[in-house]
Amino acid sequence: MSDTAFITTGEPQTDLSAFLDPHGGNLQAVRGLLHEVVDLVTEYLAQADQRRVIPLEWERIETSLLAPEQPVSQKSLLRSCRTLLSGSMNPANPRYFGHMDPLPSTGSIVASLVTAAVNNNMLSHEMSPIFSELEQRLLRELAGLFGLPISTAAGLMQSGGSLCNLQALAVARNTKLECHTTGIAGRERQPVIFASHLCHNSIQKSAMILGLGTEGVIPIATDSRCRMCPDALQTAIQRAHQNNQQPFAVVATAGTTVTGSIDPLPEIASFCRENGLWYHVDASYGGAIIFSEKKKALLRGIEQADSITFNPQKWCYVTKTSAMVLFREMKILTDQFRIEAPYMNLHEMTGETNLGEWGIQGTRAPDIAKWWLTLLQLGKSGLGQLVDLGYENSGRFLKQIRKREYLELATEPEMNIFCFRDTRSRPESSDLARRNEQLQRYLLQNFNTFFSLPQFRNSRWLKAVLLNPFTTDEDFREIFEAIDRFNPSR
Ligand SMILES: Cc1ncc(COP(=O)(O)O)c(C=O)c1O
Repeated sequence: MSDTAFITTGEPQTDLSAFLDPHGGNLQAVRGLLHEVVDLVTEYLAQADQRRVIPLEWERIETSLLAPEQPVSQKSLLRSCRTLLSGSMNPANPRYFGHMDPLPSTGSIVASLVTAAVNNNMLSHEMSPIFSELEQRLLRELAGLFGLPISTAAGLMQSGGSLCNLQALAVARNTKLECHTTGIAGRERQPVIFASHLCHNSIQKSAMILGLGTEGVIPIATDSRCRMCPDALQTAIQRAHQNNQQPFAVVATAGTTVTGSIDPLPEIASFCRENGLWYHVDASYGGAIIFSEKKKALLRGIEQADSITFNPQKWCYVTKTSAMVLFREMKILTDQFRIEAPYMNLHEMTGETNLGEWGIQGTRAPDIAKWWLTLLQLGKSGLGQLVDLGYENSGRFLKQIRKREYLELATEPEMNIFCFRDTRSRPESSDLARRNEQLQRYLLQNFNTFFSLPQFRNSRWLKAVLLNPFTTDEDFREIFEAIDRFNPSR
């Protein structure tokens, strides 16, 4: 097949190869394109500190983003890749602190290329032989690391923590309410879940999708450190029973989205056991702490979970998406969730697991490869060191905050997430919000520093997630001195 077999109607002399000829006819052309892209991407990442943390100059992107009628040249394709890079957020910049998005591990980038090249499908074993095996083995090992019984535990990856929470709560609902086949319509008692009022919004979304409505999540008060109050949980459950509701699950969060707080896992675990409730831990962010010998005790109580969500796409530097849901008893997933796909080889015949039958998603990418290559590059010990470094940087960041009386912390940080605000304004929450909005903009525009601006306690706060191991003390010093000088004209 000729190099241009599919593109002869395009721009004259176009040199784009839309497919790599399986007979190798256009190998040099495609390899050339990939080499150019690798050069482009690595140069971009190697200069991430000089590029904007998030682009401010969208209006300057003149390239048409529409679909062309005819194919474009390779040169134009590469130009479009540059356009994509220039319009991207840049979490590799050491002053990107906005969200739980890390700079990408090299292993993830390499694995993305490999998995895109083989285009396998996690829907079934025969469509992703090595990846399906890898996912099951690696996740069982990880479940063991969290303290789940390795002989019964297992998990699967889904595209993001929200889907993982949904899957865990679907299994919880089906198991505790025995409604796998019948559903929940027409029940006399409304099923309810309990979670701190600071839980991720995917818990409400899950409740809505599972037929409980958003009011099916009963919000539990938190203490001054933004952790769920066990007493409030006890009271809420008593009240639910009085209101003829049917409690079936509690979601504890290990690393809340805005303040990085960890709910009291041992107390919640005991409470669930005593009350026959499903115990789910949303460790999307904080799960990474398990790799740190120094810090993993903070997750004590997670080993009693019925299910755990964990996102290596956050503090483990794996590119998106990389998220998993782990179950204490794989058999429950089989009994309470799995739906057979008759067009696949049956598990009973081959003993092979078609992961698409076990998870919410059918077709999905082999994200496990990114996680594996990252683990191969860093080792569990390397991930532990990165977590420890996050804590060390947090100590330095905290020192800078403490030096300044005008900065207020929303709560004592438990990990590398800070929620704080500048209080040099009138104390009304709208004035405080305006000042911090302006401060966020000022840092972004003048110091290429990105803090996010969450809504919290009826006002606006700054949030910093200290994930980047290349952020230096000098960065912190400059940023806090800039905050000192901040004096908006009203
Ligand atoms: C605590 C927590 N749970 C769940 C999620 C949802 O993860 P995803 O955005 O991958 O769906 C997040 C996202 O930030 C989170 O912070």
